[in-house]
Amino acid sequence: MSVIVTGGAGYIGSHIVKRLVEMGEAPIVIDDLSEGHRDSIGECRLIIGDFSDPEVLGKAIADDDPPFIIHMAANSLVGESIVNPSKYYENNLIKSLRMLDFLREEKVKGIVFSSSAAVYGEPKEIPIKENHPQDPTNPYGETKLSFERALEWYRRSYSIGYVSLRYFNAAGADPDGTIGENHADETHLIPRLLLAILGRIESVEVFGDDYPTYDGTCIRDYIHVMDLAEAHILAMVFLERNRGAGRIFNLGNGEGFSVLEVIEMVKRVTGRDVPVKIGKRRQGDPAVLLASSAKIVEELRWKARFPSLADIIETAWKWHRAHPEGYKKK
Ligand code: UFG
Repeated sequence: MSVIVTGGAGYIGSHIVKRLVEMGEAPIVIDDLSEGHRDSIGECRLIIGDFSDPEVLGKAIADDDPPFIIHMAANSLVGESIVNPSKYYENNLIKSLRMLDFLREEKVKGIVFSSSAAVYGEPKEIPIKENHPQDPTNPYGETKLSFERALEWYRRSYSIGYVSLRYFNAAGADPDGTIGENHADETHLIPRLLLAILGRIESVEVFGDDYPTYDGTCIRDYIHVMDLAEAHILAMVFLERNRGAGRIFNLGNGEGFSVLEVIEMVKRVTGRDVPVKIGKRRQGDPAVLLASSAKIVEELRWKARFPSLADIIETAWKWHRAHPEGYKKK
């Protein structure tokens, strides 16, 4: 089986790549290493470059073996997307469309797309189902939604099958501790808490304690990165059996934890205190984000192997403790 993973040297991408290698596959990674790390993909073939460049894509696609494309390459910071929408439209939408146009000429088996809960905007119903109104509150979510819609139109006209996976809050690391989350500018709650324990950052600010939730802090649905990776494998199996099909699935655990609950769990798992202070709300944060993943459970038989928040934090801690400075080189 031929699989190309764009953004495969990133946090979630590298876990997918590792899973594919463990299955005996030889995925080809396309990554410009702007965020990704060479060290996160072992001996895998890496093409360093722009995933929308026909020459780069052409190098990855062998004539005799139509590939699956797992499209992970993207910018993914909500705050940055509000400050600099142009970067998000260019990298997440325009380049993705350029790639799609190249792919429609090729006999690809299908595309698995990394989408986000950010497509929904402010939730009107909890838990969020896939048919919940989509009204993004930031350019990041808007570009993800726009590309999802393009996938559906291209599917209808050019018969390219796709599965779009809307991740909720990805966290954790491979339990063997060899790969994990390592962003140049870490914004996510769990890694920030761990970095604070390790003294890499001074403290963590809780962004608002006046939300209409039981303890006033935001509630999120954390999903283990290994469980996300597994969903991509199931999506490929689905596309293999259902050429030209199109599906959109949420990926979460359906259980919510407040920011204060996450902090408590981090303290419990690590046995360390965390320096935190209460601050103001962050722009664009909905009070509650909670997924219904019933559709992917039913249609693809996906099942979380690491649904507990303690396990998610434990595996992230194992990675961070062993690599306090992250990957050695880019
Ligand atoms: N938080 C803090 N302090 C921090 C970091 C985060 O209090 O230093 C809070 C946030 O306000 C939020 C929760 O912790 O309530 C989780 O924040 P993250 O930044 O870890 O994750 P988000 O919920 O903002 O982001 C997730 C996905 C995005 C997606 C977004 C949709 O990572 O890809 O949900 O809103 F776009």
